[in-house]
Amino acid sequence: MNELLIGYVRSVRGLDVEVELSRDVGQMKFSVGGRTYRVGQIGSYVTIPVLFERLVGIVSEVRMQPIEEIIEGKPVLSDKKVMQLQLVGCISEGEFDRGLKDYPLIGDEVHLARSEDIDIIFAGQKTERAIKIGNFAQTKDTPIWIDVNKMLSRHSAIVGNTGSGKSTTVATLIKTFLGKYEHPHIILFDIHGEYGQIKDKKIKHIRGEELKVPHWLLNFSQWKDLLSIGPTASKQSDNLKTAITELREKNNKDFDKAKLSVDTPIYFPMDELLAHESITKDASLSEKLEVLIKDIRCDNIFKSGYDSTEEIGKFAESIIDKHYSCTILDLSKIVPDMLSSVVEILSRLFYEFAYWNLEKDYPIVLIYEEGHRYLSGEYGNYTSRRRVENIAKEGRKYGVGIILVSQRPSEISETIFSQCNNFIIHRLTTDKDREFIKNLLPENLQGLTNLLPSLGQGEALIAGDAAVLPARAKIDMLEKLPSIDCDFHSKWTDGPETGFNVKSILENWIHQKFEWRKK
Ligand SMILES: Nc1ncnc2c1ncn2[C@@H]1O[C@H](COP(=O)(O)OP(=O)(O)O)[C@@H](O)[C@H]1O
Ligand SMILES: [Mg+2]
Repeated sequence: MNELLIGYVRSVRGLDVEVELSRDVGQMKFSVGGRTYRVGQIGSYVTIPVLFERLVGIVSEVRMQPIEEIIEGKPVLSDKKVMQLQLVGCISEGEFDRGLKDYPLIGDEVHLARSEDIDIIFAGQKTERAIKIGNFAQTKDTPIWIDVNKMLSRHSAIVGNTGSGKSTTVATLIKTFLGKYEHPHIILFDIHGEYGQIKDKKIKHIRGEELKVPHWLLNFSQWKDLLSIGPTASKQSDNLKTAITELREKNNKDFDKAKLSVDTPIYFPMDELLAHESITKDASLSEKLEVLIKDIRCDNIFKSGYDSTEEIGKFAESIIDKHYSCTILDLSKIVPDMLSSVVEILSRLFYEFAYWNLEKDYPIVLIYEEGHRYLSGEYGNYTSRRRVENIAKEGRKYGVGIILVSQRPSEISETIFSQCNNFIIHRLTTDKDREFIKNLLPENLQGLTNLLPSLGQGEALIAGDAAVLPARAKIDMLEKLPSIDCDFHSKWTDGPETGFNVKSILENWIHQKFEWRKK
């Protein structure tokens, strides 16, 4: 008997194979040639010898199941260990192929994959275009490489529960790109400001209070969102439209009137908007606008310092800065109501630059952290969602890649996800999110979503065009990011005995002291 035999095929449905584990593998662990193999670990590989080749399967589920046996002529139900496999390719003549020529038959032997098999399976992955992202979880010492071109030009998604390792994976990717390439171009939308400590001379950090976005790049829908002008408030909407259109025209006399609309991204001053008669005659609109502008937390937009249309060049160069390869945009100080608009304006900028750069020599990747915050179906996210959907659909042609990062994939626009051809899926426990991801994966990989709740911290299922094969991997941790959670334990152990410093808090709040934002 083959010493690696672990069971027999019980049923075959497409690429789904059910295996009954043999009695002898009771301990689920045994040694062959000095190596210890664990049987049936989810995400591990097995082989099924058929004629001249060995089919390769990946374990997606292991369970106990009552199975009828005939003992002394009588049917008896007994609990058996059953393993579910997804076929992913075959090994023939020492090479791995993702296609299948043969299928297993009921009763075929199922073997543990030897380390030589694993080496053959992953042999093709290390090309000039590939980066190492981690190690195969089954053997721990087999590196997992992914193809950079396929990963970035066909968009990718990194998903998983909070604390499962998404941001660490993003940091690993950034550091690896910066290490491998002379001229990468990476933009990271850092929603929590957690990447501030990554040090590299190629990284430009734009801190929360330094991020300035010209108000005149807001389009009309965004103005309406910011001022909570709903679909029924047509009078307010008309007044605002008149004021903005007239002011864009008045402040840009050379601009071709025939091409000018309320959305044209050209300068007008905020004080003229407040003083415009269409606004002053509308008390409610004027009041809302005033409150918004006086809120210091909106200074990133309303006091950007970009005071003419020509300054758009300065704005663009501050973000797509040729002296750096990666820009980390700390958006943690942007008020939630403005997050969607700011993301949209910045994304628009990157996309337009790629679109109008006819040389096509500046491929850029946009990494959207915490995407559910501004790409979900919520009303206020309309413009950012539409923009990113458009980039996901068209970006490939102009050299704009997307890496979408989220803990709640099911809330994000499906249009964006369906354009992602690569997935790094960390632990994912909610049924709704798992189901959503399952439907995005190719049919032969859908069964693998069963392993998602069991992944450890920093482990992920890697699947898609950029990986040779779907693999459960432990991602390398090249940077330890600071925790964004409040440390209740320490603060409750050592915190101030005197309670809040009421005086200074009120001072900051009422007088809108700038200092608090720097903390
Ligand atoms: N690849 C990894 N290897 C080891 N530890 C990791 C890895 N990824 C994450 N961790 C641990 O898990 C914690 C949470 O990771 P993080 O990347 O912030 O998760 P998420 O972004 O999904 O919330 C990190 O502080 C780190 O200690
Ligand atoms: Mg995170």
